Amino acid sequence: MGVKDLVVFDVIDSTNDWALEQCRYGDGLPRACLAEKQLKGRGRNQRNWYSPSAQNIYMSFVREFDREAGQLSGLSLVIGICIVRVLGRLGVKSGLKWPNDVYTDSGKIAGVLVETRFKTGSNPCVVVGVGLNYSMELDQGSEIDIDWTDILRELDGQCAYDRSEVAGQLLNEIVMACEQFETVGLNVFIEEWKKYDLCAGKVLNVHDRDSVIQGEYMGINEQGALMLNVAGKSQVFYAADVSIRMKQ
Ligand code: BTN
Repeated sequence: MGVKDLVVFDVIDSTNDWALEQCRYGDGLPRACLAEKQLKGRGRNQRNWYSPSAQNIYMSFVREFDREAGQLSGLSLVIGICIVRVLGRLGVKSGLKWPNDVYTDSGKIAGVLVETRFKTGSNPCVVVGVGLNYSMELDQGSEIDIDWTDILRELDGQCAYDRSEVAGQLLNEIVMACEQFETVGLNVFIEEWKKYDLCAGKVLNVHDRDSVIQGEYMGINEQGALMLNVAGKSQVFYAADVSIRMKQ
């Protein structure tokens, strides 16, 4: 199906906000947008996504899915896989921290924010937002309160593809993976996700609203939910609820 329309903004509040607006109309989808800079870039769990001008990739892709709401939960994991694949082709080795944070050994390089709108009588409309650091000045990234990295730094300043080319590869990968996900679901992606799983064998602190739950990571289930062994009992967490820290 591809995209019917790709819009590029110099400045926008948030590409995800733009894409959510497109859900209202439905026709003309799938669409995608890119921005050089976001003024109100949004991350998961109400965090900001720092989005300085002309250095990184800020992209949103929006389409309807012929799937029930409950069958969409694994999509955000699939998008993480898309990013790891693209980075791998550039020569950047990365992995996934559940559900879809993309890390290299030096820090976080990309994040995914999937948002869904439901309308009675229509298929769910899904916005896939990706922020991928391409080349950010060290002092510009000083606002970010976790370890972070970018493509150029990982490749010692030499990337075979410029930012637009990487954005194009990423969009293609996401479009194709969404088509496959719509047809066959998460199942076919699970083995690949496991290969990139950075939590394997770790003890995790799961931040669920006001509480912190510590447990042994038991992998993901067939819906892509996180399974934790907490004092001998299995607990399942869904992407919307939690952020995790790996225990040192
Ligand atoms: C996260 O790791 O917290 C998710 C970050 C997602 C950021 C992207 S940048 C493009 C799109 N527009 C937004 O406002 N957020 C997403």
